[in-house]
Amino acid sequence: MRLELRGLTKRFGSLLANDRIDLAVAPGEIHCLLGENGAGKSTLMNMLYGLLQPDAGEILLDGRALRVLSPGDAIAAGIGMVHQHFMLVPVFTVAENLMLGREPTKGFVLDRAAARRRVRELSERYGLPVDPDALVSRLSVGEQQRVEILKALSHEVSVLILDEPTAVLTPQEIDELMGVLRTIASGGASIIFITHKLREVTAIADRITVIRRGAVVATVAPDTPESELAELMVGRSVELVVAKTPAAPRGPALRVRELTVVDAAGAVVVDDLTFDIDGGEIVGIAGVVGNGQSELVHALLGLRAPVRGSIAVRGRELTGLGPRQHLAAGIGYVPEDRSHDGYIGSFSVAENLVLDLVDRPEFSRRGILSPTAVRRNASRRVAEFDIRTQSVEEPVRSLSGGNQQKIVLAREMSRPLAVLIAGQPTRGLDVGSIEFVHGRIVRERDQGTAVLIVSSELDEIYALADRIIVMYRGRIVGIVGPQTPRDRLGLMMAGGSGGDDDA
Ligand SMILES: Nc1ncnc2c1ncn2[C@@H]1O[C@H](COP(=O)(O)OP(=O)(O)O)[C@@H](O)[C@H]1O
Ligand SMILES: [Mg+2]
Repeated sequence: MRLELRGLTKRFGSLLANDRIDLAVAPGEIHCLLGENGAGKSTLMNMLYGLLQPDAGEILLDGRALRVLSPGDAIAAGIGMVHQHFMLVPVFTVAENLMLGREPTKGFVLDRAAARRRVRELSERYGLPVDPDALVSRLSVGEQQRVEILKALSHEVSVLILDEPTAVLTPQEIDELMGVLRTIASGGASIIFITHKLREVTAIADRITVIRRGAVVATVAPDTPESELAELMVGRSVELVVAKTPAAPRGPALRVRELTVVDAAGAVVVDDLTFDIDGGEIVGIAGVVGNGQSELVHALLGLRAPVRGSIAVRGRELTGLGPRQHLAAGIGYVPEDRSHDGYIGSFSVAENLVLDLVDRPEFSRRGILSPTAVRRNASRRVAEFDIRTQSVEEPVRSLSGGNQQKIVLAREMSRPLAVLIAGQPTRGLDVGSIEFVHGRIVRERDQGTAVLIVSSELDEIYALADRIIVMYRGRIVGIVGPQTPRDRLGLMMAGGSGGDDDA
């Protein structure tokens, strides 16, 4: 069926999230919707799926206007959606999740045999293997996504929407997904594939529509150069490659030996890790989220005591000491979840810029904070890090994600560091802010700091890392150089041995 959106408009208060959007998708077409975070992609799809009601505009299927007041209406019209955040019930099995809301019943009992059969049949038809009896909570994220897709396909779909489906997948899983989408499209269904990753659109799309600030800026062919797509997305030309000379290592700054950490249940989550990071180099930790990276970072910060092994910064033994001593030893930290650990939303920009520096002599005397010194520091950092804010008195909560992240970076980089640890430093940021944050991280390296980057985005690892450590199930699978091909890294991220190379 031919889908057409005409003039779709959605406001949230004073924010115009979608501004008269036109979009046409042909049967069998894979149409990519490309745009930065906050551009309005999910809003548009939520209107198509009946989760939001448009303020103006219409949705047409084969030329007939369609009213979509709920996801039920969308499903009945043949529109399926795989959400950005999975919506499965973890304590249910795959078959139970697929049948939720419309169980095939035998009398009053759920017909489990029929449900299982249906899962097998769909799995086979689309080449998406899953065990119908597996508990969803036991599945990897890649497998959970397969279930989400099967669930959408368990209804007759003529339009399938996937909202940022690759965020949590390994490169191999992404390739598999692309194959599955091709199969579905070749059966005549239209696919709307939402992403902010340029590599993906050029690989999969038949056509690409770029959305910026709620409006369509262009619909282009997939052979459009990535630089051009980036410019359409951002509205100005962007540096896609981080300018960076080879690392000039200055001797070990961080030394980790046989580090072992267990979780609350006593399971080993960081398993016997040994590595060094030199001052002046960036080491990237690659791995699918949930393979011990967060626990490693927490141990390095003294937030979690290891059960075995040691951590030393510039020769100073830190094992068993708390976060204060770790920070005092020269560790800077840009947390993965910045809204939780990085800043205090109700505090002003100026206050957040001195959060863990308040006992330093330049800001306070005999325990009394100097408002002038705090404000002067803030003005300097705001200018230096190009933080967009009305004033330094504004609460950080009301700034955009990119500017909040710059505040965390500005604060952490405003004292001399031996080691900088950054978790997912650019997650959720727009391309312009990513460019800036990457530039500052490289500059920190060039000043002699040892940098540890944890990222599930291979593009980010490749952009920054001088060496790459791959983690899987709490262990180091390999330590490799930055030239290591993507498919080899992908295999290692899935636990396959990649072995160590010359790095
Ligand atoms: N329910 C909502 N209420 C208020 N603002 C919203 C809501 N949903 C989205 N927004 C805002 O609308 C804009 C577009 O968001 P979204 O469609 O999620 O973007 P994208 O999916 O492209 O990242 C953003 O500025 C976002 O903060
Ligand atoms: Mg979105």
